[in-house]
Amino acid sequence: MMTKPITKFGVFAVLGVLLAGSAYAQDADVGAQLFGDYCAVCHGDGGKGDGDMANLMTIPAPNLTLLSANNDGEFPMLKVIHAIDGRTGLRGHGTPMPVFGRVFVSSEPGPANPYGSVLEVRGRVLSLAMYLESIQQ
Ligand code: HEC
Repeated sequence: MMTKPITKFGVFAVLGVLLAGSAYAQDADVGAQLFGDYCAVCHGDGGKGDGDMANLMTIPAPNLTLLSANNDGEFPMLKVIHAIDGRTGLRGHGTPMPVFGRVFVSSEPGPANPYGSVLEVRGRVLSLAMYLESIQQ
């Protein structure tokens, strides 16, 4: 029987694609990693506003574990997404050149990038927002 190994290979190939794909799924673990890379320097490791840069700034970095508490107990998901992707234009984040670079800004589609980076960037922003939701007090 020659078909069996081929079938098995097929199953593993599909599994491999699924596993590789899951690395890009929106989840709080990805968000935690992104937070450590791009946000903790100001907002602190646990998001409490005590990052290394905090005392060098003239505007304090807010405690991000109190976002729900400051919003009648409800996590302000849309507001957080807009704070990250730059739509709010927060002074502390720098506009139009965000302090964390363009990782959370979708690029326009072009010849070398027909779909733009919209999906990838949205995944990052959502993962980060979900992580912030998970650390609310
Ligand atoms: C250079 C320091 C710095 C970095 C890096 C930074 N922030 Fe901020 N962030 C601030 C400051 C300062 C404010 C307050 C801004 C203001 O009042 O204009 C703020 C405000 C916010 C707010 C709004 C909080 C509120 O109570 O309304 C959110 C949400 C936020 N940051 C999330 C993030 C996330 C997520 C990252 C990482 C992608 C990040 N920040 C990176 C300094 C920083």
